[in-house]
Amino acid sequence: MLAVELFHVSGQLTVAAYWFDWANLLLRWAHAIVGIAWIGASFYFVWLDNHLEEVVRQQDRDEGVAGELWAIHGGGFYHAQKFRVAPPALPPRLHWFKWEAYWTFITGFTLLVLEFYTQADLYLIDPKVMVLTQTQAIVIGLAWLAGGWIVYDQLCKSPLGKNDNLLAAVMFVLLVIAAWALCQVFSGRGAYLHFGAMLGTIMVANVAHVIMPGQAELVRAKEQGRIPEAIHGILGKQRSVHNTYFTLPVLFAMLSGHYAMTFSSRWNWLVLVALSLAGALIRVWFVLRHKGRPPTWPLVMAIAILGATAWGLAPAPTADAAKAPPFADVRAVVERRCMVCHAEKPVFQGITQAPKGVMLDSPEKMKTQASAIYQQAVSAQAMPPGNLTGITPEERSLLGAWYLSGAAVK
Ligand code: HEC
Repeated sequence: MLAVELFHVSGQLTVAAYWFDWANLLLRWAHAIVGIAWIGASFYFVWLDNHLEEVVRQQDRDEGVAGELWAIHGGGFYHAQKFRVAPPALPPRLHWFKWEAYWTFITGFTLLVLEFYTQADLYLIDPKVMVLTQTQAIVIGLAWLAGGWIVYDQLCKSPLGKNDNLLAAVMFVLLVIAAWALCQVFSGRGAYLHFGAMLGTIMVANVAHVIMPGQAELVRAKEQGRIPEAIHGILGKQRSVHNTYFTLPVLFAMLSGHYAMTFSSRWNWLVLVALSLAGALIRVWFVLRHKGRPPTWPLVMAIAILGATAWGLAPAPTADAAKAPPFADVRAVVERRCMVCHAEKPVFQGITQAPKGVMLDSPEKMKTQASAIYQQAVSAQAMPPGNLTGITPEERSLLGAWYLSGAAVK
């Protein structure tokens, strides 16, 4: 009876996990699509703004056109003009760009909940970093996202907001502290994602709370025949400049989950800072490039930072050829510590398919994946997640010796 019931429950779990995977796939897909639409449009307008040329026709100049450019794309000629404040009369149809940003947030936030909050023990919590319950971890995560926006927004509105360079310097210091703090609370994977989600939330909130209201004021003033207040344009511009430089760091943080060598390294917070800085510098270089021949220093610095980080994280080559341990011992470690998840039929609650298709339930499969085992469980120590199965340092060394001795490939 009990067995039947258990089977019934686990059968339901399997079905639930199946639909869960579909939700995950569709959301992730949608998130990437709307994200591309948002960032693509945003990159395009930054490019457009920086390429505007002197207005040719006197009539356009009289009407308040500040710059224009010609482009050819997809088999057609395009003529874009930017007005200093607003055109003499509002066009009947004006296109706004906001839903891309909002949907990026909606899909991203749902994914965060689905992946990191409902499976906090796998992805968000690492008892080696901080012992947290699922509820505590979720509350900290949500508070972090909201707090990031509040601190940033207040900073921009403070007197500091009038000095762009000083503001950027203070923001940089705060972001370094944020990267460090997150890595003291969450698993490396969870910390990186929350760093990216914090910046992403700020970017969307900038659109919703500053840029869009500013534009609405422009339109309203025009409709009422008033001169719009210049401050809205200036504030909107400041926020959209920040968004531009946040973009590449956010993208790195979102992709970082695939690269255990970054988020599970000992200095993971510093790696996050370094790669974010490199991303921002690369964007600086592109923006300068739009304006003409760019100086090379941002690019050189970015490449140097990336190179130094990769160099710094490189595992030390092991000089002494490891002695091959008995295979039965290696197998026992994998059986004890990995196979609850990495098997054709995983038994770990909530996991119904081998994660990433990695199955370690036969000697052959272990051998073909020896290098991945080494990478994940020995070098980066990202597996088991949050050390849920309690692998010991000795067991890690044993797996390491097995791989490094070359026994795995014999
Ligand atoms: C509690 C379940 C669990 C246990 C135990 C576990 N893993 Fe994993 N493993 C996962 C999950 C979840 C992922 C997918 C991570 C992701 O989404 O990037 C994964 C991914 C992997 C990957 C693929 C990584 C990649 O990015 O391609 C390897 C290799 C791996 N695990 C090896 C191991 C080894 C070796 C052990 C035992 C020492 C182990 N795992 C124990 C859950 C587990």
